[in-house]
Amino acid sequence: PALEKDFLPLYYGWFLSKRSSENLRKTGQAFLDELASIKVFKKESNKHFGGAIEDPKMKLDLTSYFVKRPPGVLHCTTKFTDFGKAPGSEDYAQQEGVKSSYGKAFFLTISALFITPRTAGARVELSEQQMLLWPGDVDVLPPTGSLPKGSRAHITLGCASGTEAVQTGLDLLEFVKLEKAGNKGEEIGEIGGGKLLSYGNGMWMILLSKKIEVRAIFGGYYG
Ligand code: A2P
Repeated sequence: PALEKDFLPLYYGWFLSKRSSENLRKTGQAFLDELASIKVFKKESNKHFGGAIEDPKMKLDLTSYFVKRPPGVLHCTTKFTDFGKAPGSEDYAQQEGVKSSYGKAFFLTISALFITPRTAGARVELSEQQMLLWPGDVDVLPPTGSLPKGSRAHITLGCASGTEAVQTGLDLLEFVKLEKAGNKGEEIGEIGGGKLLSYGNGMWMILLSKKIEVRAIFGGYYG
């Protein structure tokens, strides 16, 4: 017998395959390691990452700085429905596209990796088809307001102690806001996977020279 009302998940999103998840974690770690060894970053890290590194030859361990890492496979949240309590949850859950895509496989494209003093994440570039699963009400950065649809799409790689995962998307929106205002970031140089940009205030992004494709299944997480 069908339940009167569907039981909504904690959130909807794309869940990476185990293999893609492991590979992306490794790529993220390599980025953190490389970033931590860069002179300009080390100079700044005391100020923004509370490194208190007295010895400039010492390297900040960013992997342990972003101590809160998502358990299990990595994912890209589309809609945080909070078991139906979040605004817009029912509308989202009832969308034809959401229902028909449930359990389907996708390839997500990752175009950049970023860190701030709070979070580390991967920027996801949504295709037109994937954009259909993107909610209309999540690309909002208070108090700035709405940013282009899909701006927030990301995969959380880690959070600093005391930071909640929800912050990663807000941090990415902060980068987008700066980009929109004409701040293209200061080009620091080429590192391993691409072009390293500094946006100030401990905000760093690497634009991948070769975008990463990950396999993912669209679905819901019930906690
Ligand atoms: P994100 O998608 O940036 O990783 P938690 O473990 O804190 O319950 O969060 C579960 C997932 O839901 C995480 O992926 C998290 O962020 C996302 N999330 C948590 N709270 C919110 C929120 N208020 N808005 C959007 N996404 C959220």
